[in-house]
Amino acid sequence: MSLRFRLLLSFTSVVIVSVILFVLSSYLLSVAVTGDLRSLNNFYKIHYSLHPLSEEEESLFLDLKYLAKNDPDQLNNKQLLEQYNKDLKMQQAALVVRKDDTVYYTAPSLGGVDLQGLLPSYDMGNNVIRNTLNAGSRFFSYSKFDFYFSSDQKERGSIFVLHERSPFAQVIRKLLPILIGLFLIILLLTGFLLYRYVTRKVIKPLEQLRRSAEHIKEGDLTFELKADSRDEIGQLVLTFDQMRLRLYESIQLQLHYEENRKQLISNISHDLRTPITTIKGYAEGIRDGVTNTEDKLNKYVHAIYTRASDMERLVNELLYFSKLDLKKEPFSFHKLELRPFLYNIADEMSIEFHNQQVELAWMAMPERPLYVFADREKLKRVVMNLFDNCLKYMNQPPKKITVVMERQTEFAVIQIKDNGPGIPEEDLPHIFERFYRVEPSRNQSVAGGSGLGLAIAEQIIDGHGGRISASSKLGHGTCITFTLKIYEERR
Ligand SMILES: Nc1ncnc2c1ncn2[C@@H]1O[C@H](COP(=O)(O)OP(=O)(O)OP(=O)(O)O)[C@@H](O)[C@H]1O
Ligand SMILES: [Mg+2]
Repeated sequence: MSLRFRLLLSFTSVVIVSVILFVLSSYLLSVAVTGDLRSLNNFYKIHYSLHPLSEEEESLFLDLKYLAKNDPDQLNNKQLLEQYNKDLKMQQAALVVRKDDTVYYTAPSLGGVDLQGLLPSYDMGNNVIRNTLNAGSRFFSYSKFDFYFSSDQKERGSIFVLHERSPFAQVIRKLLPILIGLFLIILLLTGFLLYRYVTRKVIKPLEQLRRSAEHIKEGDLTFELKADSRDEIGQLVLTFDQMRLRLYESIQLQLHYEENRKQLISNISHDLRTPITTIKGYAEGIRDGVTNTEDKLNKYVHAIYTRASDMERLVNELLYFSKLDLKKEPFSFHKLELRPFLYNIADEMSIEFHNQQVELAWMAMPERPLYVFADREKLKRVVMNLFDNCLKYMNQPPKKITVVMERQTEFAVIQIKDNGPGIPEEDLPHIFERFYRVEPSRNQSVAGGSGLGLAIAEQIIDGHGGRISASSKLGHGTCITFTLKIYEERR
C-alpha cells in the first residue's frame, strides 16, 4: 500500500469518524435540549408545520377527527375529552376544543396559557390543519380540525392537539442540516488541504529521494538535490545530498589516485629504464671488446657505476617518499632552536656554496631564540633539498640565496629564496607532486633530479603540522616558504 494511499485512507477515516462523532453529539445535545428521545428517530422528518405530532399523537388526533366528522356531539362530553387528553398527555401533547369563539376545553397541562385570541380562525375546508403557534414565551406545534357541532351547521367547533416545543430545539433542528453540511464541507476542505500539504511536504521529497537513489544506483552522482524546507524531511534531503557529494568526491579522489598511480608507475619505469639502457649499452660495449684500452674500460666502468648509483639514489628516494606517504616513517620530535640549526646546515654546505660562487644572506633573523618541535634529521633533509634546488637551478652569476626567518603568532616562517631562473606559472602548482619536473624532457642529465625533492619536503613539513608553498617569477627567482609551529614552554 503506497504512502499516498494510506494518507488518503487515514484522512477519509478521520472525516468519517468526525462525522459520526458530530452526529452523535448533535443527537445527545438535541436530547438534552428537547428531552425527547423519540423526536430524534424522525429527526429530519420533523418539520413542525408538516409533522407537528408524533405517530401516536397523530393517531389519537385521527380518532378525534373521526368523532368530529361522524359524531361531533360526543365532543361535548368533557369526560371523554378528559380521557383523550390523558392519552395525549402520555405523549406529551394536550387537547384543546373550541366552540364558536370560546375555548370549550383546555388541557390542564396548558395551565395559564390563554389561547383564546391565539387560535387560528375557522377554516371549514380544513385546508391548513398542521401549523405552529406562539403563546408568549411558549411555542407549540399542532394539528387541528374544524367541524360543525350540529348538522344545521350553526355551531362551529375545532379540535386542537398541541405539542409544546422548545424554540431553541426548533432553531437547532432547522440549523442542524446546514450545520452538518457546513461541517462536512469544512472537514472535507481541511482534509483535502492537509492531504495536499502532506503530499507536497512529505511525499514529493520522498519521491525526489527515491529518484536520486536510483541515479546513484546507476552511478550518476552529478545531480543536485535541493531541500525546500528546514524540517526533518528537508534535513534528510540535505543529508542525502551531502552523502551524494561525499560519495562523488571520494570517487573523484579514487579516480585521481588511480591516475596518480598510473603516472607514478610510468614515471618510475621511465626513470629506471633510461639508466638501465645506458648500463646495458656500456656493458655490451665491454662484452664486444669496444673497450680495447685501459682508459676506455675505466671510462665505461665509471659510467656504469654512476648510472647504477643514480638508480640506487632514485630507488632510495622513492622508498623514503613512499614510507612518508604511507605514514610508515616514524617522526621523532625534539625541541629545536631554529637559528643555530639553519646556520649548521649552511656551514655543512659552505663548500658547495663556495664552489658555485653562491652568496648566502640571512634576513630578519629574530633576536630571541625561536624554538620549534621538530624531527631534526627530517627537517635537515627539507632544508638541504631546498638549498640543493637553488644550487642546481641557479645558472648564472651573481648567484644569491637569501634565508628569511620570522615569527608570526604561533608559527615560525622560513623562506629560502634564490635569484635563479624561476618556475613558469603553469608549473608552479605542480612542483610538490612526486616526479614532477619543470623540464619537458625527463632527462636527468639536464639537472640531475628525480622530481622527488619537493614532494619529500612537503610530506615532512606536513608531518610537522606545517605548510609549504612556492612563489616564483620567471627570470627573477624562486621562493619556497614553510611554516613550523612554535614550541611554547608550558608554564
Ligand atoms: N629553486 C628552483 N628554481 C627553479 N626551479 C626549481 C627550483 N626548485 C624546484 N624547481 C623545479 O621544480 C621541480 C621539482 O623539484 P624537486 O626538488 O621536487 O625535484 P628535482 O630537483 O628535479 O629532483 P630531486 O630534488 O628529487 O633531485 C624541479 O625539477 C625544478 O624544475
Ligand atoms: Mg630537488
